[in-house]
Amino acid sequence: MPSSAALHHLDKSRALYRRACEIILGGSQTISKQPGRYDPDRFPAYIERGAGCRLWDIDGNEYLDYVMALGPVVLGYCHPAVDEAVRAQLSRGVLFSSNSPLEVELAEKLIARIPNAERVRFFKSGAEATSAAVRLARNFTGRSKVVSVGYSGWHDWWTAKQESGGIPEAVRQLTLDLRYGDSEGAVRLMDREGPDIACVVVEPVVSDLDLDFLRIVIDAAHAAGALVVFDEIITGFRVGPGGVQGRFSLNADMATFGKAIANGFPLSVVTGRRDIFEAGKDLWISSTFGGETLSLAAAIATLNELDKPGVVDWLWASGEQLRLGWLHLLQSRAAIHATVKGFGPLPVLQFSKEARRQEDEFMAGMLDRGFLVRRGHYWFVTASHQPADIEMTLSACREVFDEIVRPG
Ligand SMILES: Cc1ncc(COP(=O)(O)O)c(C=O)c1O
Repeated sequence: MPSSAALHHLDKSRALYRRACEIILGGSQTISKQPGRYDPDRFPAYIERGAGCRLWDIDGNEYLDYVMALGPVVLGYCHPAVDEAVRAQLSRGVLFSSNSPLEVELAEKLIARIPNAERVRFFKSGAEATSAAVRLARNFTGRSKVVSVGYSGWHDWWTAKQESGGIPEAVRQLTLDLRYGDSEGAVRLMDREGPDIACVVVEPVVSDLDLDFLRIVIDAAHAAGALVVFDEIITGFRVGPGGVQGRFSLNADMATFGKAIANGFPLSVVTGRRDIFEAGKDLWISSTFGGETLSLAAAIATLNELDKPGVVDWLWASGEQLRLGWLHLLQSRAAIHATVKGFGPLPVLQFSKEARRQEDEFMAGMLDRGFLVRRGHYWFVTASHQPADIEMTLSACREVFDEIVRPG
């Protein structure tokens, strides 16, 4: 159970990470699992196992987790119904020489719940699904440029807007960055570049939800003949069965989902209008592991669980419990330079840019107490977090806030 000064030592993890840095590109498979994302002195730990909302590392430390594998684990680690569905499928086989009926079953399930979904296609990662959406949009419109709002994965078309090397200049010219919430910028961009823009790929929530911005993006893009892709890889299914589109009656032309769809099993999907998909049916979009059955079985079981009464409501309620708890704590602690953001099941505690030292101390203090959270990012609450877990988390936040501002 996380408690005061719960983190003992990380000797085994540190030794393993040193070995990893010698042989693994970047030391880890995911940039967000590198040390700077948590606390350079205390992390990364190597995880031995998880159950519910808790993790145990190879040095024997226990964590109450709000990172939840960067979002996919929406029901909790080792969820019995999901794991049982996967075990049953495992006994029949993982990947076959031809298609599995599970593809059709899951496709029908998704089409029934996602507003724009007349067609779907499965992939393994979010980056793949959004890249497929971009290719479908370029094919359908005959245009090359893409506007990107938020993060959509590591492939060239998105990374083109970053400083990263390895992106050809010609590719770089084709991606235009737009800040979430910048409605005037969206209109200006469409006025200037509209005839060349194939699609706008927009995360419907970036820390907060701005419905006016989303409506303006959809209208401006459509007026310019461009398509709109909602990247619902974070919002999908935890916000509601049809994602942000379903919950707020917004209609994008395509959408992408991943993360929470299969409770940690690798699956993503692009959904969209029939005409866009029909026009793209002969495009070269293909993957050996597309259609892998364990993830399809996991997705069907995960969606069934999320559909049970009260599950999504609970995600919203626990997000709210955290947000209200932080607001209450910060009200009487003006010296803590943090604001409460986020929406529904995606609460965020954001330290101001000038308060980097406070943020470092907060990350360290929470880790020392056995709470795993991400810097300035969503705290992923799951069906497995109990009200008592959140109470305990808020108590830890209070202790750490007080430690940060304690003189000396
Ligand atoms: C909104 C969004 N889109 C796309 C991606 C890329 O997904 P993946 O890392 O599975 O390729 C992410 C990953 O964090 C994401 O948050």
